[in-house]
Amino acid sequence: MSDLVIKNAKLVLSDGVFEGGLLIEDGKIKKITSDSGLLKADKVIDANGNYVLPGLIDAHVHFREPGSSSKEDWFTGSSAAAAGGVTTVLDMPNTQPPTSTIEQLNRKREIAQSKSIIDYGFHFGASADNLNELSALENNVASVKFYMSETTGSLRVDNDAVIFEEFKLLADKKILATIHAENRDMIQYWTNKLKEKKEANAIDYTNTRPNICAADALNQMMYLSKMAGNRIHFCHVSTREEIMLLKNSKTEKITAETTPHHLFLTKEDIKKLGNYSKVNPPLRSIEDQKKLWDAVHSGLIDIISTDHAPHLPEEKNRDILMASAGMPGVETMLPLLLNEVNKGNLKITDITRLTAVNPAKIFQIKNKGMIKEGYDADLVIIDLKKEAKVDNSKLLTKCGWSPFNGRKLKGWPTKTFVRGNKVFDEGSIIKTQGNEVTYF
Ligand code: DOR
Ligand code: ZN
Ligand code: ZN
Repeated sequence: MSDLVIKNAKLVLSDGVFEGGLLIEDGKIKKITSDSGLLKADKVIDANGNYVLPGLIDAHVHFREPGSSSKEDWFTGSSAAAAGGVTTVLDMPNTQPPTSTIEQLNRKREIAQSKSIIDYGFHFGASADNLNELSALENNVASVKFYMSETTGSLRVDNDAVIFEEFKLLADKKILATIHAENRDMIQYWTNKLKEKKEANAIDYTNTRPNICAADALNQMMYLSKMAGNRIHFCHVSTREEIMLLKNSKTEKITAETTPHHLFLTKEDIKKLGNYSKVNPPLRSIEDQKKLWDAVHSGLIDIISTDHAPHLPEEKNRDILMASAGMPGVETMLPLLLNEVNKGNLKITDITRLTAVNPAKIFQIKNKGMIKEGYDADLVIIDLKKEAKVDNSKLLTKCGWSPFNGRKLKGWPTKTFVRGNKVFDEGSIIKTQGNEVTYF
């Protein structure tokens, strides 16, 4: 007998939608079949004709432990993720201390293992002097992350020769490099200029990191990686100039991501959001946003990840240059995207491609990202007709706010399963134990 059956579903498979159900045994999808082919199981869930998607893989989150658990911890972060239909997260290394040694990686492993209710993996941090640590890496991290410039935390590599050497090492080891591409000298120059101004605001802040900052850095990193021969993934692509560069020069060794905040917010929102809009790279113009959507539709952008970067209100409400940069997103990505399905701007299969199939491919995660026999039963049942407002008071992220607060969205996740275990059900969290992913 199977452990669980989900019946009466529209299953979003990689090649289209299949009406029927699935059998789950030992956390894996045992069989996908028509409802009449479903055998008995301990538990049966009726999806009521709703869509069932593969659980989302959010390839870019900051869950803040160790070091900053007042902003988020692995339990609150993973609960927020489960509520957003996310069943796997890949956590960034700019924690405190940074995940740039094997010792720190193992420490983070222990924390996640004890607290996460969904599955997880880790990005390792490149630093100016950790070539030895990088040499010791095995095939058990999602990528090595390069911060080219200052942002939250102390982790960065501010020498391009070092980046080049580290890229060559990663090419040999066949490990992916992920990049936060912003030109450090330009940021410093324009930040110093802003410091001279008496009263700076959140719009002024965006001028310290204009489009050229991101595009110049992406261009340079693309060239370094082509010379070094490594595979490279660009985080949070936000400008039309980056899109143009990718259009002209993307190869099979280059992949790109954008974020919900760059797809659903622009500089126009800064007046309302104030310092809460502060994020690196910053919010851009409507013209940039249009080009991002074109690239999402054409496939030039491979994935959407949240860059979930929670900070407390008191950390945002400082002078703009001192305020923390980043916004939460793990709970709102799926409803924002489902709302676009209702508007006719995305197909349901686009969501699956951008948030499950492609992240699993790029980060080489085993047995995840698709509803497929033999794969992990990471699933999310959604109600495409449910309408609700994003509401700060209902969020599970510890930071307690969302830049989308008050936005009415149609299309919400209702139940989330990680390896067949229900972790979220109509607003409630069910505590289970997440596992670390493995890589192929
Ligand atoms: O705005 C950002 N916040 N950009 C980053 O690169 C880091 C992130 C954070 O960790 O807060
Ligand atoms: Zn970044
Ligand atoms: Zn980030």
